[in-house]
Amino acid sequence: MIRKEYLMTPGPTPIPHQVSLVQAEPIIHHRTPAYTELFVRMVEGLKKVLLTKNDVLTFAASGTGAMEGAVANCFSPGDRVLVAAGGKFGQRFAEIGRVYGLEVEEYEYPWDEAADAEVIARYLREKPDTRGVFVTHSETSTGVVNDVKAIGEAVRGTGAILVVDSISGAGALELRTDEWSVDVLVTGSQKALMTPPGLAAVAVSPKAWELVDAATLPAYYFCFKKARKKFNSDSPESPFTPPVSLVKGMSVAMDILLEEGMEEAWERHRVLAMCTRAAVRAMGLELFPKDLDRAYAVTAVKAPGGIGGGDIVRHMNRVHGVIIAGGQDRLKGRVFRIGHVGYYGFLDVVAALSALEMTLAELGHSFDMGSGIAAAEKVYLEMTHSPS
Ligand SMILES: Cc1ncc(COP(=O)(O)O)c(C=O)c1O
Repeated sequence: MIRKEYLMTPGPTPIPHQVSLVQAEPIIHHRTPAYTELFVRMVEGLKKVLLTKNDVLTFAASGTGAMEGAVANCFSPGDRVLVAAGGKFGQRFAEIGRVYGLEVEEYEYPWDEAADAEVIARYLREKPDTRGVFVTHSETSTGVVNDVKAIGEAVRGTGAILVVDSISGAGALELRTDEWSVDVLVTGSQKALMTPPGLAAVAVSPKAWELVDAATLPAYYFCFKKARKKFNSDSPESPFTPPVSLVKGMSVAMDILLEEGMEEAWERHRVLAMCTRAAVRAMGLELFPKDLDRAYAVTAVKAPGGIGGGDIVRHMNRVHGVIIAGGQDRLKGRVFRIGHVGYYGFLDVVAALSALEMTLAELGHSFDMGSGIAAAEKVYLEMTHSPS
């Protein structure tokens, strides 16, 4: 039988055909007016998607490159920073900070909960020499989404900058970079920005630029100042050869997202998450996060007793062609994660849920087949069709 695959991981994610097609166009040279026009257009689109007027810099890298850039550009060795580490990606910021010689304090909170803005506010009152607070917007490893708005209020007015990893949030979840006082917003192309992997972006606030000017850590490829200087020149460019095809793709993807409208895109993700939640609960499964507020990017589900999360992931892939993700780190084997972040509509989610139902039945979990799909359909109609 023909094998058709459905990519339902929280990144990389499927891309619209318009984004694919434009990447097949002939390569243009990156020191030409044609590229400059394209580049500026893409950056302007990104600014609108991120709701920022700050400088937006892009790098040929996966998201982690921009995370590293945020550390290397904004700080000096020994600077005190607080990292909210409630999952694998929060921990990554702490690891990068230590590699660069920062004095990293980890705020560890349970992986199934969101960070408490009050804890961060208290820390900043007690340690006023703190130079940075690092937060993961959407913690892809757990499905939990942090309240960046509340954390922004806690950090605003202190001497620290707020650095937010919104690699799996931007484009999918409410994110108001400037209004929420995010000083360095980090994101990547391969999730809700509906572009292949390989293009990372950072939005840098005036408060962060002050730190950049004072910072003494070394940065070369990810140097923010160099990237800003080139972008603000008479013919905006990147310092190094950019991923021209990805820039073309991202430019089209930004058009598609902006045509949908950011509030509409955020609502679409909320609907898909609510449908997925209802479905897995109807299948007799439990969601991993206790704190489900804002958790609309990834649905993390506890594996049912006797069946490993990895078995579900492998079976769905091998037998039904649906690719979802397993648990990472301490959640390995304990959870599986369905991504609905990016270019997804309701029927994509139905395909994943149908494959999940068949997988669970085949692996011996007892529940009413079809109950998950029925629950998802009910929620979908309730949330999207007002009674006439
Ligand atoms: C929240 C978050 N941060 C960081 C990363 C790492 O990004 P990349 O793999 O693009 O380097 C990911 C990727 O899954 C992520 O979801």
